[in-house]
Amino acid sequence: MNQPEIPPCPFPAANAAVSLLAVHDRLTLEYFPMPNSPIRVPYLDLQAQYKSIKPEIDAAIARVLDSCQFVLGAEVAGFEQEFAAYAGAAECIALNSGTSALHLALLAAGVGPGHEVITVPYTFVASVAAVLYAGARPVLIDIDPCTFTMNPAAIEAAITPRTKAILPVHLYGHPADMDPITEVARRHGLVVIEDAAQAHGAKYKGRSVGNIADMTCFSFYPTKNLGAYGEGGAVTTSNPEYAKTIRSLRDWGQDRKYHHVQRGYNYRMEGFQGAILRVKLRHLEKWTEARRTVASKYNRLLADCGLELPTEMPWARHVYQVYTLRAEDRDSLQAALQTEGIQTAIHYALPAHLQPAYADLGYSRGAFPHSEKAAKEVLSLPVYPEMTDNQIQKVAHALTSLAAAR
Ligand SMILES: Cc1ncc(COP(=O)(O)O)c(C=O)c1O
Repeated sequence: MNQPEIPPCPFPAANAAVSLLAVHDRLTLEYFPMPNSPIRVPYLDLQAQYKSIKPEIDAAIARVLDSCQFVLGAEVAGFEQEFAAYAGAAECIALNSGTSALHLALLAAGVGPGHEVITVPYTFVASVAAVLYAGARPVLIDIDPCTFTMNPAAIEAAITPRTKAILPVHLYGHPADMDPITEVARRHGLVVIEDAAQAHGAKYKGRSVGNIADMTCFSFYPTKNLGAYGEGGAVTTSNPEYAKTIRSLRDWGQDRKYHHVQRGYNYRMEGFQGAILRVKLRHLEKWTEARRTVASKYNRLLADCGLELPTEMPWARHVYQVYTLRAEDRDSLQAALQTEGIQTAIHYALPAHLQPAYADLGYSRGAFPHSEKAAKEVLSLPVYPEMTDNQIQKVAHALTSLAAAR
């Protein structure tokens, strides 16, 4: 019998430089062919990283297959212990995404209908959406234009009797200024929940992100500094009550099998992801230092090109999940870099309050000038631990020439 003809793959991996690119940092992974160029620089290169740890990853996957513990299980429990130690927290609760982490942290804090949570519009939209999942209202405040993170000076004016929590986002891998945020929260009896989806290993005044606030939420989406091979997330906390509530909520609110003491969710981490994350966690510090080295090389090579480079505050350890600079003509810069074989990204072209899906939050254009200006200017350069000096120099050289020709 004749087989139906299968159309050829449009992106033959054998001869095209391919990279796994998260479209709008999220929705899907797609093959992204680079135009002809002597050195091709993808935005990130997950294949290079996998190759560097293949035997360890393959052994970890085999362990899960042998044990048949596909959901939670020993590998996930092991990861929880190791990640809690890494973040300096008493507990880590492993989940199926960073969004689930935000949702459950908010519920554990008692956030619900009638409450307000203060956060920022300039973030990946999950920070805002999770507040809505909990049934509460996101109250947005503007960012500090230097760090792209919450401006602590704007918090006080946003507090009302309904405010229950403050949710700063450590955007791009740079921590928010946590001392003034914590101070205002303590004064008003508010819970602080960090969105550290992009900030594994970041530090604030020497303390690891993950043990500063009441709860910290991480994403292990594949493109993150610590990325699973699928979806993943976690909450770290040193508050046993929060930990207990989140453990119960992630597994249908059960206190024992088929006995549901609260209305929970199926937010459990898979065994494969736990095993993979344990392997990758062992490499995270080395990878973070490699990212920081790439960033410092960019900083040195681009120092005089007239573009606004990312800031690392003296109190911060930036982990460069994203290396974002600013340029008023960033769209034409991005197009020109693309033709030279350099792939870049834009995080984020539209702040949450201007997204059509969140128009009913009631904020109009002009409400958050720093967020809106950033959205028009930001351009993220390739940054990943495996980048070669040739690639870094190619990006820097191309940007310098383009900036000089403006
Ligand atoms: C700042 C921020 N918050 C939350 C999330 C949501 O994480 P996840 O995609 O794992 O649900 C992300 C992921 O992109 C993020 O960047």
